[in-house]
Amino acid sequence: MKYIFANWKSNKNRKDAEHWMDEFDKNYAHFASHEDLEIIIAPPMPSLMFISNRLLDRQKHPHVYLAVQDLSSYPAGSYTGAVSTVNLEGFNVKYAILGHSERRNYFEESDMDVAKKVDQAVEAGITPVVCVDEDYIESQAYAIDKKHHKKCIVAYEPLSAIGTGDEMNPKKVVEVVNRIRKAFGDVRVIYGGSVDGDNVKDYLEVCDGVLVGGASLKVDEFKRLV
Ligand code: PGA
Repeated sequence: MKYIFANWKSNKNRKDAEHWMDEFDKNYAHFASHEDLEIIIAPPMPSLMFISNRLLDRQKHPHVYLAVQDLSSYPAGSYTGAVSTVNLEGFNVKYAILGHSERRNYFEESDMDVAKKVDQAVEAGITPVVCVDEDYIESQAYAIDKKHHKKCIVAYEPLSAIGTGDEMNPKKVVEVVNRIRKAFGDVRVIYGGSVDGDNVKDYLEVCDGVLVGGASLKVDEFKRLV
């Protein structure tokens, strides 16, 4: 199985999200043409309910799943502004992207914060997609409860490649995938950083999937990539 995550980050208002889903549905035959491919949409939180409703008709969307871009490191309770796994019940969220470098840089998340989020996700039956760059592969693995390692998908996200068009050489990705598997065990590893329709094939040959930012924002471009 290969995984293609569409991470919209903080882009799109409700109308844009609806338009994206309309276009996606129009092209659905194309998106669903590979049995061994999962497409995962990671919308901003306010669009989650709407997209979840659209995906509910599983007959129509058998290979498409939903992810959140972040999670609270705390359970349900008095944590104003945080989204707990309890808040997500009923929305069919299958994955949670955790510890993206943008979370680490702009919101000062630490390996320990990410580890706590992994605990929350695993407890709720949500698969954590733990993002790492080379500097903190081992420390992040060490912070996460060892019994959760095999439940994670690990995303190699080199900072130099995110949103820059300066994609990583796939040979380098192979090296880092091996390092990740040394630290986390035999986990699924995906790559993210300036993935587009031209280079995606190179990455799918060397790892289990891709985390796509910019190239997932327009259905046309995303379709070409898929
Ligand atoms: P990008 O983002 O595809 O826009 O480089 C990737 C990511 O942040 O995972």
